[in-house]
Amino acid sequence: MLTVTGLNHTFGQGEISQQVLFDVNLTVHPGELVIMTGASGCGKTTLLTLVGALRSVQDGSIKFLGRELKGRSKAELIQVRRDIGFIFQAHNLLDALTATENVLMSVDLKDYSAEKMYEHAARFLSVVQGDGEPPRALEGVPRDRDSIARALAVGLLTALDLGHRVDYLPKGLSGGQKQRVAVARALVNHPALILADEPTAALDKTSGEIVIDLLKGLTRHGSTIMVVTHDNRIMDKGDRIVNMKDGRIESDVRVDETVRICLFLHKVPMFSAMPTGRLVEVAAKMKTERHESGVPIIRQGEVGDKFYMIKEGDVEVLIDDGVGRRRAGALTQGQVFGEMALLTGQPRNATVVAKGTVEVYTLGKKDFQDAMASSDTMREELIKVFAQRHPRR
Ligand code: CMP
Repeated sequence: MLTVTGLNHTFGQGEISQQVLFDVNLTVHPGELVIMTGASGCGKTTLLTLVGALRSVQDGSIKFLGRELKGRSKAELIQVRRDIGFIFQAHNLLDALTATENVLMSVDLKDYSAEKMYEHAARFLSVVQGDGEPPRALEGVPRDRDSIARALAVGLLTALDLGHRVDYLPKGLSGGQKQRVAVARALVNHPALILADEPTAALDKTSGEIVIDLLKGLTRHGSTIMVVTHDNRIMDKGDRIVNMKDGRIESDVRVDETVRICLFLHKVPMFSAMPTGRLVEVAAKMKTERHESGVPIIRQGEVGDKFYMIKEGDVEVLIDDGVGRRRAGALTQGQVFGEMALLTGQPRNATVVAKGTVEVYTLGKKDFQDAMASSDTMREELIKVFAQRHPRR
């Protein structure tokens, strides 16, 4: 997909010249999400702009989809950029255009016929929607090119939680909302390569997660992504973490499942205070499970054998009190369930059902008890959870 070999880069000339990249070598495979970290000024953004054909390669080689970028004319570099989606900090929305129109600017770069537009919109929106159902944003939409393009833009903005702002001008949007419009504009053509510089910096926790989950979804359907970030909340989403220092690649680590779980646990209050060594031990014992929409993960009355933590998605907690079934609560990413039966020895006190596709990390009963025995914070957090779920005791 992308090969960078022996890349050097220098800004300025003569006495004031400063070399910012030194012998950078990097290979990125199709479908990978690569996270680039490092202190500011270490060369990450320069590398990203070179890879994105926004600057000319001075020394070394960058090959993107088999094409060498060094020695290309300006016109050829513009052509290369058409296969790339850029999410940069300065969002550069056009002030006179609404959110939807800004996104449509990008769609218009593709000279699609009505039929091609429909094909693209249907495929892309179903990836964005993520539940395998036909895209709802295209229901009842006339089959002319402009109507489909608009439905595509609105569908994507809605997925980015901007459904209520699609006809707003940038001046009526908050910083985070503008950033999400820029994300929509960068992604709407489902580019082969996505380059993002701090895409979540201006976003709150929920919007940041929406953006990263969307990016992650696109990697499963053909996009390759390089993200420059300092945001610890998204480290666990990467396939690789490349760390740069003083213009050089200092480390390039494939994120295996244990590392990914550790990075995730760091964000969960119950585990965040655990010493790293202990955290690695717990993470190594955790397993990943995927549950489809509507399917019970835990059934009331069963014997408890596992503890669950939600990695991605939402669940509903239903309690049957003998008279009928009532909804006792809903849980989301980072929250836990299935702790009660393990703590009390009683049968499961509720049924927990996946709402949409859900991924969970699980820990067997014995490993859960060991983890709890060795961590005061985990015990304290569990007591808090227990008290919330049993307000009358
Ligand atoms: P457990 O009894 O092992 O299995 C069912 C789980 O549902 C239970 O643990 C809790 O984790 C969860 N649960 C029960 N009641 C509530 C509630 N009121 N709110 C949220 N979660 C609950």
